Amino acid sequence: MINITHKEFLQELSKQTPYDFCDYSDNSIQRRIHRIIQESGLNLNELLAKATADADFVERLVNDITVNTTELFRNQDVWEYLYTNVMPKLKSKKNINVWHAGCSTGQEVYSNLILLNELDMLDKANVVASDINNWVVKTAKDGEYPFRFNAQYIDTYNQLMSKIKPNANPFEYYFDIDKESDKMKAKNFLTDIPKFVKHDLVAEEMPFYQKFDIIFCRNVLIYFNPELQVKIVRKFFDKLYDNGVLILGSHEGLHGFVKTHFVKNGMVYTKNKTFHLTYK
Ligand SMILES: C[S@@+](CC[C@H](N)C(=O)[O-])C[C@H]1O[C@@H](n2cnc3c(N)ncnc32)[C@H](O)[C@@H]1O
Repeated sequence: MINITHKEFLQELSKQTPYDFCDYSDNSIQRRIHRIIQESGLNLNELLAKATADADFVERLVNDITVNTTELFRNQDVWEYLYTNVMPKLKSKKNINVWHAGCSTGQEVYSNLILLNELDMLDKANVVASDINNWVVKTAKDGEYPFRFNAQYIDTYNQLMSKIKPNANPFEYYFDIDKESDKMKAKNFLTDIPKFVKHDLVAEEMPFYQKFDIIFCRNVLIYFNPELQVKIVRKFFDKLYDNGVLILGSHEGLHGFVKTHFVKNGMVYTKNKTFHLTYK
């Protein structure tokens, strides 16, 4: 049998499974697939045959294809900006609707909740968090992480708070730490708040009816080709309230016509409501 190409593999995968990676950027997806081939010892035809016959295998494939790296308070300056400029403006609202699209294992979600708590706004938090990958969504829900690997983020938290709120609660107020069993776990008053769901930004409709004040989609679009990035950002635009903000990663930006639909401030993109009527 002739070996199929990467492109053919992804096209067939999108026809025969719920997942469509065809418009992921070529370099990144080819590297991931190459690694899967090396580690599994299967060629692309064999991978496809297995994926179409075995639903669990497809989920493992999604886990191997996606990059799930994340951190607590990743890029301190964006959290400083949110705490100082974005969140206080929402204080008079009854509910603050936040969506973490591509939340991975949830560290970004807990970073956001901690800042809202430090502003006495946690009771207003209406937070949804989604990811394409089953496993990371489960970890995010539990809010439990290996301690040794994450201990450095206590310093990050302390550094950030020394700048924005020197009398903030200590890190241990938010996480139970058990060094012996190498675990740290977000306290229940944090894990109880978000609604975590498995959702594929590319292949599924936007899952929520409400509009959002803040949409985090950090370090996710970077894996998509420019056309797909525009398509997804266009949907975020519709899902934001006027003056709502979209937060991207430090190596990301807006492409194409959606660029003019937002006002950029560092990694924070505020919906430009003059475009409101365009989509009515
Ligand atoms: C590098 S992580 C970023 C996590 C977090 N937002 C951050 O910046 O720390 C990228 C996440 O996007 C998710 N992802 C990739 N493609 C997706 C898609 N089509 N729909 C939803 N999530 C996706 C991956 O599973 C992964 O957890």
